[in-house]
Amino acid sequence: MKLIQTISELRAELDAFRKEGKTIGLVPTMGALHAGHASLVNRAVAENDVVVVSDFVNPTQFNDQNDLLKYPRTREADCALLEKCGATLVFAPSVEEVYPEPDTRQFSYAPLDTVMEGKYRPGHFNGVCQIVSKLFLMVEPHRAYFGEKDFQQLAIIREMVRKYPFNIQIVGCPIVREEDGLALSSRNARLTAEQRKEALQISKALFASVDFSKSRVLLETKQFVEDCIRRAPGLELEYFEIVDGNTLQPVKAWDESNYIVGCITVYCGEVRLIDNIKYKG
Ligand code: PAJ
Repeated sequence: MKLIQTISELRAELDAFRKEGKTIGLVPTMGALHAGHASLVNRAVAENDVVVVSDFVNPTQFNDQNDLLKYPRTREADCALLEKCGATLVFAPSVEEVYPEPDTRQFSYAPLDTVMEGKYRPGHFNGVCQIVSKLFLMVEPHRAYFGEKDFQQLAIIREMVRKYPFNIQIVGCPIVREEDGLALSSRNARLTAEQRKEALQISKALFASVDFSKSRVLLETKQFVEDCIRRAPGLELEYFEIVDGNTLQPVKAWDESNYIVGCITVYCGEVRLIDNIKYKG
């Protein structure tokens, strides 16, 4: 495994692989890697000859500077994990290398990017599209891997690939959870022991709502989850939306769509946690 910090070095390595006819998989990350990231890398290793993992905390997608400053950085441990997974290249550029000048490109995929995270984190998905499109142009992978944990991000990336257009297969990978149900996240490292216990109520509410939903109408199910979180100590609900899994627009009844997902964002202290659950499809 090689650690690479410049675009020119990345291109030289990849050109050599391409000449040999090798397939290339890309896993974009912001580092602070955990088993969720590892599941993406393992899948990429199984499906491609060469796997590039980018490890870059992208400043343009942070609407909250405090969140950017506090974002955990664990490069050494990341490299050890990636080596074990069998990644070929780790691309960890500086901010100046990626953004030699401000990126003024505007990406707009309404209505996908105007709801939920798009509403509460203005500019976030524009920044995600800026970095992911740059990575796609730098790496030119055959396949790129994204987690369903960031459900809205995955839908927007698929839309960007379709509209740009990029000739890249987007592979969505299931959410990896702790044994007790909490979705793995780099931000979990910022939770105190007490908050870690409180955060468990998020996945608990989502799982319980799947059973609840079988005998209840959609709006009752929405309220059930909202009530669970509002009653849970230490948690503050930002939103819970039950949406069509393709359009991300809220649905009001179970028979309105064949693909229905509940997306939630909760603050546990200062830490913003997201999760989602599939009801249908
Ligand atoms: P990051 O939060 O580091 O996540 C990198 C990838 O890992 C994303 O596709 C995310 O959905 C996936 N992932 C994170 N936690 C997961 C879990 N518990 N189970 C499955 N997959 C999980 O998402 C980003 O970085 C950035 O926005 C990025 C796409 C790299 C652009 O900067």
